[in-house]
Amino acid sequence: MERRTSSSKSPPKRQKKRQNARPKKTNIATTALGEEPEKRSRKKGAPQKGEAGNRELNVHVKTAKRREYGSTLWLKRQLNDPYVRKAKAEGYRSRAAYKLIELDEKFSVLRAGARIVDLGCAPGGWCQVAAKKVGGKGKVVGIDYLSMPEVMGADVLEMDFLDEAAPDKLKDMLGGEADVVLSDMAAPTTGHKSTDHLRIIALAEAALDFAEDVLAPGGAFVCKVFAGGAEGELLTRLKQNFETVKHAKPKASRSDSAEKYVVATGFRGRG
Ligand SMILES: C[S@@+](CC[C@H](N)C(=O)[O-])C[C@H]1O[C@@H](n2cnc3c(N)ncnc32)[C@H](O)[C@@H]1O
Repeated sequence: MERRTSSSKSPPKRQKKRQNARPKKTNIATTALGEEPEKRSRKKGAPQKGEAGNRELNVHVKTAKRREYGSTLWLKRQLNDPYVRKAKAEGYRSRAAYKLIELDEKFSVLRAGARIVDLGCAPGGWCQVAAKKVGGKGKVVGIDYLSMPEVMGADVLEMDFLDEAAPDKLKDMLGGEADVVLSDMAAPTTGHKSTDHLRIIALAEAALDFAEDVLAPGGAFVCKVFAGGAEGELLTRLKQNFETVKHAKPKASRSDSAEKYVVATGFRGRG
């Protein structure tokens, strides 16, 4: 009697089940960082093109053996962040770009033809926003000790801003007074609270020294500060030298971050 072999006849039950199974979804954790997840149909109330939206995203990130817990949390936060997605969709280098966009919507500091200095500019989101706003007749000069790919319409100096030669180099590149000095500089945190605080203040003070030296009368200064905002001597100087001094926390600034911005407008000039 002839014996049946599995190859000559219909597939065994288990194999049949697999053939009928729906295609497996790609787990986003296995795709490259920042890669868009599978496209899903747009639901009613979902953010439209160009909106970051407040809707909570919920991309699950599997823990992986070689990935540390902190990195998994970071990855989850990135993948679930509507501003990260919006930046990617709109071609901005960083989600930080939306902080400047929001600050500008509120305080109107960027205008066509303006000369702008961007301190701590890598990876380039603020440079992109500024260059777009000032257009061909304006000028954008940035500095960062990290290298970054070129931004169209901006000249970038790769150097530590605290190097004593940096301010003069920036002034040479600018070729005149500035209308706006932006500083989004942030040093890597050490975890030691008072050390971190001192470093933040030192960066903000150095940025203000430079702004006072390079701004044209009427100019503006936008600077990242932390916790209670600009305080003590820094705040006194700002109030003395600018007509208005305001603090703002853009929506794009994460709510669990102590970061905020001080926006000083109407520079009174150098005595
Ligand atoms: C929050 S990021 C800036 C993001 C940027 N605004 C954007 O939109 O892409 C802060 C930057 O400040 C830079 N930074 C911190 N201290 C600096 C220093 N002393 N000189 C130059 N850059 C500095 C860091 O290297 C970092 O790239």
